[in-house]
Amino acid sequence: MAQETIISMKTSNIKFGLGATREIGYDMKALGAKRVMLLTDPNLAASEAVVVTLAALRTEGIDAALFDRVRIEPTDLSFKEAIQFATDGRFDGFVAVGGGSTIDTAKAADLYSTYPADLLTYVNAPIGQARPVPGRLQPLIAVPTTAGTGSETTGVAIFDYLEMHAKTGIAHPALCPALGIVDPLNSLTLPPAITACCGWDVLCHAIESFTALPYHDRLAPAHPGLRPAYQGANPISDVWSTRAIEMVSRNMPIVMAEPTNLDARGQMALAATMAGVGFGNAGVHLPHGMSYPVSGLVRDYRAPDYAVDHPLVPHGMAVILNAPAAFRFTASACPQRHLEAARLMGVDVTRAVPEDSGNLLANAIIDLMRRTGMPNGLEAIGYGPEDVEHLVAGTLPQHRVTKLSPRPVEGEDLRHIFLDAMVYW
Ligand SMILES: NC(=O)c1ccc[n+]([C@@H]2O[C@H](COP(=O)([O-])OP(=O)(O)OC[C@H]3O[C@@H](n4cnc5c(N)ncnc54)[C@H](O)[C@@H]3O)[C@@H](O)[C@H]2O)c1
Ligand SMILES: [Fe+2]
Repeated sequence: MAQETIISMKTSNIKFGLGATREIGYDMKALGAKRVMLLTDPNLAASEAVVVTLAALRTEGIDAALFDRVRIEPTDLSFKEAIQFATDGRFDGFVAVGGGSTIDTAKAADLYSTYPADLLTYVNAPIGQARPVPGRLQPLIAVPTTAGTGSETTGVAIFDYLEMHAKTGIAHPALCPALGIVDPLNSLTLPPAITACCGWDVLCHAIESFTALPYHDRLAPAHPGLRPAYQGANPISDVWSTRAIEMVSRNMPIVMAEPTNLDARGQMALAATMAGVGFGNAGVHLPHGMSYPVSGLVRDYRAPDYAVDHPLVPHGMAVILNAPAAFRFTASACPQRHLEAARLMGVDVTRAVPEDSGNLLANAIIDLMRRTGMPNGLEAIGYGPEDVEHLVAGTLPQHRVTKLSPRPVEGEDLRHIFLDAMVYW
């Protein structure tokens, strides 16, 4: 088979700016919906973002049914609850106001109420059957309230599959929202730890997509329909990812120190969306692949500021705790890209040699982790060397992302990386 020669760029339409949420009634009407399901999580049910959204929809004569039972870090069970509500309601549009948990739940509610099927039907292989989505969904408008996942731009919905204690997902372009409304006003109330975890998710989307296996190192698909959504690093995604690395590195310390700095909040919100376009097309690799068991196997860790009634390693934290060790491992495959990522984070690399690239990038990340209150490695959230076998076993099925590592990775390599991620300073 020949090497891949083709790339494409997919994303949702985006509307960005202060007060953009107030235009959602106009935008939903333009999409033709009259009766929508508005999803949010319990903490945000009475938030300004939800109140403004409901008012804007009603002003345009759109009826909205509020579903405020989204679970933070959704599971197969919580997806099913939202799908049932959607199925009963026979809605002709969906609105998600919240973080990635809410936007992903809305995608699932839309998908399974439009094309009813057993949950595993559309879930990524090998956990699910990875059947393609049969056709178009009802229009979904995503209103992110975190500067994080970029889920407003992607056709991906992630959930925790309880039986396997591991995260998995559904990935198909049809899941991509019709519109993302990115309004910096909606992220002003984010508390510090959530701001930091979400910011780290953005930075990892950007660095991982920039350092992913290049698209031309993959075999071409036998049929265009089989080309993976995650195509590998490519010149289009590089534009989005590199800019996002700079914007997050510069603005994360500012929003941590000045939570109401609207300009910096706006830069973080925009960077989240831009990194979403980058990784939504190129893909992510080891830090994300390894994060799924780190979240899924949690015992009793509870992250500060996350108002939930269950132990939780937030997604961005689960990702960043692996990142320095993972980049030390991947750097030898594309040292120039690791050096460039470090430079975009503000490191002086003028005298650096390629062999330094992994450590330079890892050290820049560790420095910022310390400044943003992240735990000191996997041991600080309750894991030890005795857990490494389970962590590796939970990472191996995540082929969709681990195969995008620029350096091929086996179980033994993952063991070494997880051990390296136990303590950083
Ligand atoms: N679909 C994708 O492309 C994609 C990409 C990365 C991550 N994810 C998934 O997204 C989920 C994480 O999403 P997230 O990090 O955006 O957060 P989240 O939706 O899990 O919410 C985290 C916490 O922040 C609170 N919150 C959200 N907005 C707030 C605001 N404006 N003010 C105060 N509190 C607020 C929530 O109530 C919750 O307690 C994970 O399940 C992850 O796997 C999806
Ligand atoms: Fe992520």
